[in-house]
Amino acid sequence: MKTRWWILLFLVLAIAGFTLTRPSPTDSQLPMLASGEWRAMDNGQAQTPPMGWSSWNAFHLDIDQERLYRIADTLVSSGLRDAGYLYLNIDDGWWLKRRTADGRLLVNTGIFPGARLRSGENSFRPITDRLHGMGLKAGIYSDAGRNSCGAFWDRGHPNLPEGGVAEREVGTWDFTRQDLALFFDDWGFDYLKLDACGLTHFRPLHLLVRGLHGQFRAFPRLADDQVHDRYAQVGRLLAKPGRDVTYSVCIWGEANVNHWGSEVGNLWRTSSDITPDWQRMMANYESAVERELYAGPGRWNDPDMLAVGLGDFSTDHIEQARSHFSLWAMLSAPLILGNDLASMPDEILELVSNPDVIGLNQDPSGHQASRVFRSSQYDILVKTLTAPAGLNRKAMLVLNRQAEEVTVKVPLAYSQFTSAKRVKDVWTGITLASGQQHFELAVPAHGVRLLEIQGEHRLHEQRYLTEFPGQVHVVQSHSKTARILGAAEIGNMGIDGLEQALAIHPNSMLQWQVPAHARRLSGQFSAEQLDGDNRMVLGFYGDGRFLSRHSLSPKDTRPVVFSQDITSIGLLEITLESASGHEKTRGLLLNPIITYSHEP
Ligand code: GAL
Repeated sequence: MKTRWWILLFLVLAIAGFTLTRPSPTDSQLPMLASGEWRAMDNGQAQTPPMGWSSWNAFHLDIDQERLYRIADTLVSSGLRDAGYLYLNIDDGWWLKRRTADGRLLVNTGIFPGARLRSGENSFRPITDRLHGMGLKAGIYSDAGRNSCGAFWDRGHPNLPEGGVAEREVGTWDFTRQDLALFFDDWGFDYLKLDACGLTHFRPLHLLVRGLHGQFRAFPRLADDQVHDRYAQVGRLLAKPGRDVTYSVCIWGEANVNHWGSEVGNLWRTSSDITPDWQRMMANYESAVERELYAGPGRWNDPDMLAVGLGDFSTDHIEQARSHFSLWAMLSAPLILGNDLASMPDEILELVSNPDVIGLNQDPSGHQASRVFRSSQYDILVKTLTAPAGLNRKAMLVLNRQAEEVTVKVPLAYSQFTSAKRVKDVWTGITLASGQQHFELAVPAHGVRLLEIQGEHRLHEQRYLTEFPGQVHVVQSHSKTARILGAAEIGNMGIDGLEQALAIHPNSMLQWQVPAHARRLSGQFSAEQLDGDNRMVLGFYGDGRFLSRHSLSPKDTRPVVFSQDITSIGLLEITLESASGHEKTRGLLLNPIITYSHEP
């Protein structure tokens, strides 16, 4: 009897001890489960950044059929369609109401008379048919909640939905399947921009909502995860076989979209709305510029539509217009024009039609540029481009943030090339002397210089992983940005002889689509600051199977060397774990080098 009592006590203590010491599976650890499954958006759409035109920046809610057709005609006659601008996106302002009898959305035929069919029915089909007949694609706008942004921001505008509270609930919230079937199976649209004011703005205490005279129903506050779930639900429904729909997630960089956007949408807004002024454009550029590890074929950071041709980017400020367009091209951002094309000056047309700049943006490898250098005066961006076997091509951009000209000495080494075979100034088309190790570039006030460089790579049968961000996807549950560090930042860390570094926050995972002929990934694993009894563990998994693990503790004064065989692995998952969470410090992959079986 006595013995059994002791055994029981021992068991109870053992179980309690195990429960207390076992690391609790917090949600920050969940994404660490290497699954062998590519988790990034994979609906086959937007293999290169979408290009087109949207009604919002030019017309706001004042969109109508006549304007739309004029734009469509101009897209074709100006050559813009053939230059790649395929999507013609109707933004907010198209709806009349939701018919309460059956929940069907009605197009405002006062402004879109073509949507009134002879049968008396109401449908966008004749309009999308016409656009398709012109070789264009058609985009539609809706909201993830019950009401649209116009209803909140543009009160009193004649193009807002009309009728009672329920009739004005034109957002998709209670009608997801029905609206998607209408937009895509019935009306034949090809692109959905799904806005979020309906989720975020119609709060119970807001004047528009509260009391007997409230014009809108209150919408409950959703947690970030719920916002994610809502957008993911729509994304799943859009991916139904037979639907060829590009999905644009519009939640302005909020609700942690920067970490889940690339798993849910083909593009996701990283910032609030652009306005046609230099400061705002620069702020939107900043919202996307260090996010190269999140973009790739099928998934793009969206710093918002272009404002080229408007305000600070009109013909009076052509240098700034060129900068804005070049930056979006380098960011692999969607190129959605927002000016009134029908009255566009030739200079603007020429600018947005530049085939070389469009070519950088539409490069099939889909590597967003990395910012390799940043100072208060200027930025330098480098973008890896597709090249035939045996050739290496990169685009390099210098952006002058200042309101006066600056001369910049740009090291060729930023491209990882030891010598340049051919250097072209993309905007002038002029070939530059290619012999030197530096380019001395005069960059106009708020201007850019954009070069395309063909060169000899410094590595043989090897490349840096950091040169191919489009092959990488980041899985994480927090909002910290994994990114490629610039030369100056690396220098500031006092790490000698270092050429490349990739920083990830603990409790994140990088997924890498290993290219054929890649045999090994090697480099050093380090951390910015490890203190106390903190430890970081770097794990490698190949197609879901554990490969190796490398542990770093505060006692390690040198980086830990890793060298992982990746022969015949399709998906490499690199996990970074730390008990102290993701806030404290970042893990660094220093000089992550891919070795191939032959020169790539
Ligand atoms: C905003 C969105 C804009 C535009 C507008 C329409 O939320 O960011 O791009 O669509 O709504 O009301």
